Amino acid sequence: MSAESPKIDHTEFTNPNLEVLYSVDQIQQRIAELGAMITSEYRGRDLVLVGVLKGSCVFLADLMRVIDLELTIDFMSVSSYKDGTVSTGDVEILKDLSNPIRDKDVIVVEDIVDTGLTLSRLLEILDSRGANSIKLATFLDKPEPRIKTELKIDYTGFVVPNRFLVGYGLDAAGRYRNLPFIAAVRDPSAV
Ligand code: IMP
Ligand code: MG
Repeated sequence: MSAESPKIDHTEFTNPNLEVLYSVDQIQQRIAELGAMITSEYRGRDLVLVGVLKGSCVFLADLMRVIDLELTIDFMSVSSYKDGTVSTGDVEILKDLSNPIRDKDVIVVEDIVDTGLTLSRLLEILDSRGANSIKLATFLDKPEPRIKTELKIDYTGFVVPNRFLVGYGLDAAGRYRNLPFIAAVRDPSAV
């Protein structure tokens, strides 16, 4: 008997293990609303968008194109130390900002806030650098598991249920960041 590989009759985007929660159109509509808010609130300021790599790259790319202002972008990469799947709140800076943020009006751009520990630690680090203001924009807010932090989020795309989500920058072990929509994983053991 020949060992044939199992026949796969779906693509990455039509994977039946994914349940679409927010479509491309819903996402673009919401981001246009966030862009309009930021455009009106930051007029005349010295705005820099700080993306937290890697997950925020898709959101940042869409968000910056609906902010009709003079602005710059920068990136940070941090690793959160996790105890199994639970965030411990310790973060290590893997890549720091390229430029100083002194006197700038900063919006930190994240893909998703889960426990909030990574971001609250990151904000503590940025707080000491003399920015004029620091606000927080997250594409997704998963408030249910936030037992350890009181994080003030200024701009939120969608408040989401406490499920494992992928797509639009969010990954499962590095995969699925390229999905143009947000999906919940039906069976996390099968990703
Ligand atoms: P926390 O807020 O410190 O718990 O960590 C947030 C980070 O965990 C996010 O920036 C994501 O990288 C990751 N994360 C949390 N929830 C999810 C999810 O549902 N899917 C993919 N990544 C997630
Ligand atoms: Mg992240």
